[in-house]
Amino acid sequence: MQPLIDSFGRQIENLRISITDRCNFRCRYCMPEEMMQWVPRDEILTYEEVERLARLFVRLGIRDIRITGGEPTVRKDLPYLISRLHMIDDLESLSITTNGFRLKALAKPLAEAGLTRINVSLDSLVPEHFAYITRRNALNAVMEGLEELEEYPAISPIKLNCVGIRGFTEREVVAFAELARRKPYVVRFIEFMPLDADGIWREENVLTGREILDMINEAMPVPLVPIPTDPASTSRVYRFADGNGEVGFINPVSEPFCATCNRIRLTAEGMLRTCLFSVRETDLRLPLRDGATDEELEHIIRAAIWQKELKHRINEGEFFQRANRTMSQIGG
Ligand code: GTP
Ligand code: 5AD
Ligand code: SF4
Repeated sequence: MQPLIDSFGRQIENLRISITDRCNFRCRYCMPEEMMQWVPRDEILTYEEVERLARLFVRLGIRDIRITGGEPTVRKDLPYLISRLHMIDDLESLSITTNGFRLKALAKPLAEAGLTRINVSLDSLVPEHFAYITRRNALNAVMEGLEELEEYPAISPIKLNCVGIRGFTEREVVAFAELARRKPYVVRFIEFMPLDADGIWREENVLTGREILDMINEAMPVPLVPIPTDPASTSRVYRFADGNGEVGFINPVSEPFCATCNRIRLTAEGMLRTCLFSVRETDLRLPLRDGATDEELEHIIRAAIWQKELKHRINEGEFFQRANRTMSQIGG
């Protein structure tokens, strides 16, 4: 089988599938407080449609599937979907990215369904700060969900995602680093990207990974040392010199990693996106529902991937064009 390859020679092995645009949080860096226009239900791919496409993608060379949202756990029967995808031969990694709110109830069924990895958003360890950023008073539920997750070692590693926002995140950087030492979590700081719905992103609000790394090294008794990661990975990972805890940095703004990007995305309505910042996308739902064969879908998919964007232009001032969707409509 020909690998899935774009015109710059990047081999695509990672697919992020959004299964809903809805969410039970309203994080300020992502969603508006109200007035979201939800995608009508009949336009959302059914689980059968998701499975058909996932099987085809894996046959074409995808090895890593991540289920995203909005918030994937708000869609009914997520463990059922995971159990279906888990049965696909040659899929090496099956993961979700979640806000963690429903994890206390879902950790067990997700583990039993075959989930292997999980990333949980956690932007603050202080209830009031958490409630401010997510617009939901839900820190306790997320922490209970994380505790429950630890009961299921088949789901490993547990990664925590913290979006770094200047003026908000600095005061908790050290507490997050201490959490990474105390618990079996990889704490990752993500640079704030211009994908928020309210248009509050400004370059000066981006707290860079470098700044956070310096803060941690200054405050902690042992320094962070880099550990090798897959070149296609979004994050640079460090461990504390005494081996106790890991911290990662996702620096798409200050250190773009587009040159090694191996990712594509499928939105909840079945649109294929070849970049987080794409301004155009390829409809897979229409041919799927029109009865296209796998060969016909393959042709459409290969053509779309060939056109994958070279890079984002966040740092190019007037050349930067916002994506045609916001983060919750893409899935991160
Ligand atoms: P792992 O496989 O565990 O490394 O997952 P991940 O880091 O790809 O996934 P996650 O859903 O946890 O995403 C973490 C952050 O990385 C989110 O803010 C994503 O939007 C961002 N991210 C993921 N892929 C890309 C990408 O291709 N480009 C950019 N700029 N950001 C990305
Ligand atoms: N910039 C960076 N990361 C973001 N996320 C959501 N919106 C943004 C943004 N504007 C993160 C969430 C989640 C992941 C999928 O994307 O925190 O962990
Ligand atoms: Fe929901 Fe995730 Fe967006 Fe927060 S970042 S509003 S949890 S989709």
